[in-house]
Amino acid sequence: MKRIVILISGRGSNMQAIVQRCAEQRWPSEVVAVLANQPGAEGLAFAAGRGIATGVVDHRAYGSREDFDAALAQRIESFAPDLVLLAGFMRVLGGAFVRRFEGRLLNIHPSLLPAFPGLHTHERALSEGCQAVGATVHFVTPELDHGPIVMQSVVPVRAGDTPQTLAARVLATEHVIYPQSVLWFVQDKLQLADGRVRQTDGASQVLI
Ligand code: GRF
Repeated sequence: MKRIVILISGRGSNMQAIVQRCAEQRWPSEVVAVLANQPGAEGLAFAAGRGIATGVVDHRAYGSREDFDAALAQRIESFAPDLVLLAGFMRVLGGAFVRRFEGRLLNIHPSLLPAFPGLHTHERALSEGCQAVGATVHFVTPELDHGPIVMQSVVPVRAGDTPQTLAARVLATEHVIYPQSVLWFVQDKLQLADGRVRQTDGASQVLI
């Protein structure tokens, strides 16, 4: 059984989708902990209700980014994870943290990377007149919202879309591509070479 730790900052709907699929579809894995940097993160209650260990590492309690990263890393390591997932985790993690978990650290970002790293992706896509947007699951590297792409979803932009309507349409696809990516990882079906990710069965890595 592969051990998964999930980091959240708020609602945690991606975390919930992964926890539910993992249990329902009997993946060869277990979500062993859900950790948040915000004491009020709504997703913590869901995880606790499923009997999953929860914890808070509040970034405000640390004097520097490095100290926070080190405390968070230590808490994560205490659960001996095979895989660490950033799921709406709204803190930038430093190079030392990322290197410590490299190859077993995934993130989901609500844009078609490498377009629109960072915040406000849907506003930016609308103001650029994009006709399609989407989400990306990727291995985390020290560069923000960068790194080998595991899977992407593509979503059309419709007349009258607002950042909110677009976010909702993209989020629904996040709840498909993140669980799918995690399942491939725990099945050892992701091969990482030269900064590219290959699904070893040849399954499509795009959801359209
Ligand atoms: C998602 O859109 C995710 O891509 C982004 O933050 C949002 C988190 O949503 N990184 P949730 O907490 O998983 O509901």
